[in-house]
Amino acid sequence: MRRHDQIAEAKELLRHLDRRTTALADGIYRNPVTDYTCAAQAAREAALFFRDGPINVGLSALLPRPGDWMTHDHAGQPLLFVRRPEGSLAAFLNVCRHRGARVATAACGAGAQSFSCPYHGWTYGLDGALIARPEDAAFASVERATHGLQPLPVVEKYGMIWVGLRPGGAFDVDALLAGAADDIAAYGLQSYHHYETRTLTREMNWKLAIDTFGETYHLQYLHPDTVSPLFYSNRATFAGFGPNHRMIVARRTIDELRGQPEEQWDVFDHTAVIYVLFPNTVFLFQRDHVETWHVFPGERPDRCSMYVSLYIPEPATSDSAKRHWDKNFDLLMATVERQDFPTCEGMQRGFLSGAQEAIVFGRNEPALQHYHRSIAAALAAAEPRLAAE
Ligand code: FES
Ligand SMILES: [Fe+2]
Repeated sequence: MRRHDQIAEAKELLRHLDRRTTALADGIYRNPVTDYTCAAQAAREAALFFRDGPINVGLSALLPRPGDWMTHDHAGQPLLFVRRPEGSLAAFLNVCRHRGARVATAACGAGAQSFSCPYHGWTYGLDGALIARPEDAAFASVERATHGLQPLPVVEKYGMIWVGLRPGGAFDVDALLAGAADDIAAYGLQSYHHYETRTLTREMNWKLAIDTFGETYHLQYLHPDTVSPLFYSNRATFAGFGPNHRMIVARRTIDELRGQPEEQWDVFDHTAVIYVLFPNTVFLFQRDHVETWHVFPGERPDRCSMYVSLYIPEPATSDSAKRHWDKNFDLLMATVERQDFPTCEGMQRGFLSGAQEAIVFGRNEPALQHYHRSIAAALAAAEPRLAAE
């Protein structure tokens, strides 16, 4: 977020505190429970958002050095990312062109110079080319040149990675960010370091995980001893960027700004900034570090999987730094896993009870309204195409 926006947003938060208000939507929004339960909608979401992508993968820091690689299986396709010797990033389908085995089988690695399929030893270069094939004569009529790993479109920009899930596709990251690019670029994400990624699965629709970060109305009730002592409840600013959005929430220390000259304000020290990058990614900027959530639908509408990553400003080399970040990560996960997600799983079961056909997003929950309107609009716009398939 650029400096002048930080100042403007901090002032807006202080105004909300003075007036005991928060960013408000024009009206309430009734979201049908089928948004979270309907198998037909889940199939349309899978086709629209996750079959072709593009999807955000995380920060460039996931693969900082040449030879670094990682697999990614959350979106349904087996993906392989690799940092090439000259520094560019490549993405491939992690599928051997012999008989289809997974070429890279672990989660990640470093220092790769090639990938050798564990089944029969076909070997691929970091550019995906098939460079060696045991018993080559037996495959003489199968051209090596056309049997490299299938490349996927991948874009690295503003320190983040996006991938398209279909070979040959193309996409424009700035169009995806829909006006949020300058805001995101200002964080200098290129300089962050990856600390750790954890994965989890839950018995709830994938959009409920995104909703968890969509309002601060719940903080004092659900998190009286964890988040609430640190953050004001129901005090936030909101901005939409196309289907994406940004929400800024106030730490209880924000009142300290009142006594300081504006040019000295450290706005990040007194806020947390939450971006939803449509449709399935949450970026949480907390003072000096970044937490990202990438959420994916499961086999059923009431299942999801996700990975959570912590990125930090300096590499954690000392034991005390590691203890600091471990504690940070543990606290975040404990709050979400013990408080937010069990609540979401209860909601998911309640959706099927027949208690109501719709849930209500209040005027004080503009981010939830924006997100679910954006989902509905994207599905409606794609409906003719999806229906024709
Ligand atoms: S399936 Fe990969 S070498 Fe045979
Ligand atoms: Fe929460």
